[in-house]
Amino acid sequence: MTDKLSDKLEKKITQETYGLFPTGVTRYQLDNSEELKKKVLLWMKDQEIVDDHGRRMLCHNITQVGEKNKILDDIPELEQALMKAVGFHNQNTFNYSCNLAINEAYVELATEGALYAPHEHSNCLYSLTYFINYNHENHGFLKFRRNVLSSMYPVMQVNSNQLTPYNMPEATFTMREGDVVIYPSNVTHGYDSNQTDERITLTANIIPVE
Ligand SMILES: [Fe+2]
Repeated sequence: MTDKLSDKLEKKITQETYGLFPTGVTRYQLDNSEELKKKVLLWMKDQEIVDDHGRRMLCHNITQVGEKNKILDDIPELEQALMKAVGFHNQNTFNYSCNLAINEAYVELATEGALYAPHEHSNCLYSLTYFINYNHENHGFLKFRRNVLSSMYPVMQVNSNQLTPYNMPEATFTMREGDVVIYPSNVTHGYDSNQTDERITLTANIIPVE
């Protein structure tokens, strides 16, 4: 025996809290990540270490391998794969109507103890991190920080009983090798607790183009 359907719901929802203005961060596993990884590792063998890359103040135990943007010219299929991921992210988040392109990209090699202080990227819409050689158990994962725009915040600092999506100062999720993680460039991010060598990632910034 079944109850008749009725439009008079007995348990009408009368209290709800809405999470407004979420921040879109995308994890996009590349289809051809194994193949791309081989190409990138081979490419790295012929590249120089770039000491003067302008991010020294932000990081520790991290070197740039190869000149900025060179990898995109040398491995065009990598750029195509990254832009496919960016297209997915854009469609699901800001949905900008303009065309998008990578304006800078660089490969970084992190060794044990590496860290990236929390930072943002300027003069771009989205930024991405492609995890080329990455063990999610031992390598440092990206952490994102709540954007606090008002100089009035926090008005009062009060302890909370537990972390919730509304009060957590930092957030992350599990990232794996072959993932491209895409985020708005102005969202503060960084990493620490990199426990082992050979964390290899590519970072790229995305801009609007004609
Ligand atoms: Fe960054």
